[in-house]
Amino acid sequence: MAIFSPEKRIWWKQPIHGLELGWIIVVFLWGLFMFFFMIAWHFIGDQNLSTETYRIAPDKFVERVEEFAEEFQAMDENGEPIEEEGVPVVRPAAGGDVYLLARLWEFWPIIELKKGESYRFHLSSADWQHGFSLQPTNINISVHPGYEHVLSLTPTESGVFGIVCNEYCGIGHHTMTGRIRVVE
Ligand code: CUA
Repeated sequence: MAIFSPEKRIWWKQPIHGLELGWIIVVFLWGLFMFFFMIAWHFIGDQNLSTETYRIAPDKFVERVEEFAEEFQAMDENGEPIEEEGVPVVRPAAGGDVYLLARLWEFWPIIELKKGESYRFHLSSADWQHGFSLQPTNINISVHPGYEHVLSLTPTESGVFGIVCNEYCGIGHHTMTGRIRVVE
C-alpha cells in the first residue's frame, strides 16, 4: 500500500519493462504447464482420482451410512459386535458398496476391506467441509456436505490405513481421524 499518491497518475499506461514482461510470460506459461500437468498426473501418476459426484441431502447420507453399518457390522466369535474406541468395525461385502461419513470430528465407521476386491466407495459429510486424506498413500478428496463422491477402489496392500482430515473444520480438526483396514 502506498502512503503517497503515485507521481504519474496514469501509471498503467507506462510502457512495460522488457524484463518484467519476460517474467509475466514465464509465469503465465508455468501456470498453464501446472494446470495441464494436473490432468496428465491422473494418467501417468495414478493420482487425482476421477469420482462420480451426486447431490444428496446430508441427513439422507447419514441414514445410508447407518443402514450400511448396521447391515455389515463385524461380529467376533461370540457374536458380539466389534468396536474400536466405540466406533463400529464394518465388513462390507466384497465387490459391494461402502459408505463412509465425515463429521465433526470423526470418520465413521471403521471399514474393513479385502485385498484385491473392488468396492464402490461413497463419501460425504454430515456437516461442514472436511478433507479425506488416506495415509500413507497420497489420496486426497475434498468432502462437502450435500455432495456424495463415489469412487471405485481396489486395495492392493493389506494393513491399517489412517484417514486424516486435511481441511480445517474447527476446534477438533486435529483429532479428526478414521481407519480403513485391509485384510488378505
Ligand atoms: Cu474435518 Cu478438519
